[in-house]
Amino acid sequence: MGVWSRRAVLAGLVSSPVIAAGCIAGTATQKAPSDEGAGSGAALGEPAPAGYRRLPIPPAAESRTENGVRWFTLEARPGRWNIVADRTTPTWGYSQDLLGPTLRARRGETVGVQVRNLLPETTSVHWHGMHLPARFDGGPHQPIAPTETWEPSWVIAQPAATLWYHPHPHGSTQTHTYRGLAGLFLVDDETGDGAGLPNEYGVDDLPVIVQDKKLNPDGTLDEREDTGTGLVGPTVTANGITGAYAPVVTDRVRLRIVNGSTMRVYNLGLDDNGEFEVVASDGGLLAAPVRLRRLVLTPGERAEIVVRMQAGQQRTLRSFPVPVRGGKGRGPSAGAAQGEEFEILLLSPQPRLRPSTATPSVLAAIPPPATRASVTRTFELDGNSINGLPMDMDRIDATATVDVPEIWTVTNTHNRVHNFHVHNNHFQVLAVNGSPPPPELAGWKDTVAVPSSGSVRLAVVFRDYADPRNPYMYHCHLMRHEDDGMMGQFLVVGPGQQAD
Ligand code: C2O
Ligand code: CU
Ligand code: CU
Repeated sequence: MGVWSRRAVLAGLVSSPVIAAGCIAGTATQKAPSDEGAGSGAALGEPAPAGYRRLPIPPAAESRTENGVRWFTLEARPGRWNIVADRTTPTWGYSQDLLGPTLRARRGETVGVQVRNLLPETTSVHWHGMHLPARFDGGPHQPIAPTETWEPSWVIAQPAATLWYHPHPHGSTQTHTYRGLAGLFLVDDETGDGAGLPNEYGVDDLPVIVQDKKLNPDGTLDEREDTGTGLVGPTVTANGITGAYAPVVTDRVRLRIVNGSTMRVYNLGLDDNGEFEVVASDGGLLAAPVRLRRLVLTPGERAEIVVRMQAGQQRTLRSFPVPVRGGKGRGPSAGAAQGEEFEILLLSPQPRLRPSTATPSVLAAIPPPATRASVTRTFELDGNSINGLPMDMDRIDATATVDVPEIWTVTNTHNRVHNFHVHNNHFQVLAVNGSPPPPELAGWKDTVAVPSSGSVRLAVVFRDYADPRNPYMYHCHLMRHEDDGMMGQFLVVGPGQQAD
């Protein structure tokens, strides 16, 4: 089946108002870089800025409700995609050629996802940032063999947030993600609805998945990597394409930014060095907006930002050289080409912008973290293992008890950046290198940078879902490191319960 007929089939399978404009806009832009695409409901008088292609908006995933469960379908499959305008790249995607549809559900809903593997390799789908039973987590213990289907189902029980899904097969997370497997899972709730933030998906509320690629002259993905560095490429993409622009029709635009890269750290900012407001981190809204000019995101981290726009004034989201922190260690991306600059997304205002509500000064109530806990643990990241032990699928590294607060100290004894991601529940950062976290790290997090020769202290509590058999993971989210074994497993058990 050719590329175009496959797309036609896809359009038939996943029908939503957004695909009519947004996703097809993505497809259309692949045909011609100057194609304007449809206007997502807004009248667009302006042509595309020369040399840019319209930011593809992943379509809102369709669902059907059966016995109170809202079912989505994802097919992991090969495809072809114009990452750069003039070359076609063989890729992998979920129900489309690259990336995947945006799953969306409300707190309190029961959801299910039918995941079919049409790839030639075993994969898995992990719901990054989702609070859910371990057997549905989609980590290395839930592999999906070629042609097989996996059907996890759970209740959405967490605040509104920008989560994402990606492969997590033991040892191949990096290559599977690099080939294009990644998508968004948006959670909604009343606090999120009431926050007064731009919320028209694909119009003033834009998903921005940032990834880097290395392309061969023939368009194929270069999967060669230097030892220890992992897959790092010079081609930085937004939602799968280079040179992306988004037409802006309102005077405030919300960007839901995901660092979906395998290894690369970004230092995000606007080309005019103006401020933007950070309104949410990994696990949902911050207590209050934080005005910043730069924001570092390591692989796996998310941030929602609100950018002010004025008619006639384009602004560009860029990545600037990653700062080197502190006198001792090297910066968060030390070793991963941290001096480079990239253009990520051009925001191109229409001649007339609709006014939008100012960002409220209070966004969400975030309870103060427990600063003392009877259970404390230490995790030492030392280059390719944690506490001296590489990941072992048959070894449980920690057993936590439901509802018992713990404090985790994560130390990076290596001279490279690492970060630390915990499955199942979000944590609160108590300290970075011994000092209170900056406000943008003071909300709910599931992934945090651990400065080289530095440490972070985290308050974690695991709620519900006691299971003495199925573990969750914690790991460095720099995917080469996680694949190499910088990962451990923990169980959550009930009070007085033992691991099986
Ligand atoms: Cu986003 Cu265990 O991963
Ligand atoms: Cu995760
Ligand atoms: Cu690492």
